[in-house]
Amino acid sequence: EKGGYEHFMLKEMYEQPKAVTDTFSPRIKGNDIVIEELGMTDEEIRAIRKIMIVACGSAYHAGVTSKYVFEGMARIPVEVDVASEYRYRDPIIDEGTLVVIISQSGETADSLAALRESKARGARVLGIVNVVGSSIAREADNVMYTWAGPEIAVATTKAYSCQLIAMYLLAMKFAKVRGQVTENEMKRYIEDMKRLPDQIELLLNNQNRIQKFANRYLAARDVFFIGRGIDYAISMEGSLKLKEISYIHSEAYAAGELKHGTISLIEEGTLVAAVLTQEDLYKKMISNMVEVRTRGAFVLAVTNEGNDEVERAADYVIYIPETNQYFTNSLAIIPLQLFGYYISVGRGCDVDKPRNLAKSVTVE
Ligand code: F6R
Repeated sequence: EKGGYEHFMLKEMYEQPKAVTDTFSPRIKGNDIVIEELGMTDEEIRAIRKIMIVACGSAYHAGVTSKYVFEGMARIPVEVDVASEYRYRDPIIDEGTLVVIISQSGETADSLAALRESKARGARVLGIVNVVGSSIAREADNVMYTWAGPEIAVATTKAYSCQLIAMYLLAMKFAKVRGQVTENEMKRYIEDMKRLPDQIELLLNNQNRIQKFANRYLAARDVFFIGRGIDYAISMEGSLKLKEISYIHSEAYAAGELKHGTISLIEEGTLVAAVLTQEDLYKKMISNMVEVRTRGAFVLAVTNEGNDEVERAADYVIYIPETNQYFTNSLAIIPLQLFGYYISVGRGCDVDKPRNLAKSVTVE
């Protein structure tokens, strides 16, 4: 059932190129994005004034990435919240709000409650769901499925990657209808999307190098993930992947926040993983990396091919292939997933079934 892989998590990471392809290909028609299941006319899409993304855990992290993509590409204000907070905070939403609930299982109790709360307040609810016919899929006004296939490992990998793709497609659709992208930009996004599966494959094939690196950090006590903008979102997901399956304490920080307190935790040898895929923020990130390195941190960088400048501020660099500024998280997450996985394996943890966790959280 694991198809020759040692763990479901590894198998599912390797299924990502296919899962991602299955999620975008039915929705790309020539140079256009067609999402029939969205059930919205162009007029309705233009009438949306705010997008409210609600989810838990990794799905929430996919939501945080999407905020940057939606705002950048489609110029619509986006709020993101974790479902357990959202449902109790009297959120300001109305008929002009599109609420997007992201969930792999479609059964997460808080996400389902957030969906019901949103509908009761008159908002339109779109579910981004992996399990067909699940509660969230049934109760949402519309459902856009992620076609990741069954995910068994508790730590999500392929479903998360497909959530990103679904949200990119949605942002592209909204950007087009609202006149925020040119034909050429759209063509370029579609080309970039079609290249993602091979690029993911390439990064997966880098596993030996990442395993070797991970083996040096099996005894780490704390790991910090830092990034800015969209890279802050990926840092959160990288940090969760590591801590949930390896039991090593890790945290994600917006890199500029370090000096407001957290930098006091950096000691000789502390591992800091820095993600920098946004060209306009390279310089800022590099200066944050230098700051932690000066205090003894060992800096692992995940950055774009061609950013050679990074070498002067990092001890170890993983390069990701070229894509546009909005899709980088789909590539940067791969080495971080592999890193979490190999640390967990190296420490002898139960990779697929980490302690205290359940695949689907159906209680509050
Ligand atoms: C982490 C992980 C969880 C889930 C979260 C939401 O690897 O899998 O954080 O993302 O429990 O679950 P779903 O997406 O089923 O609502």
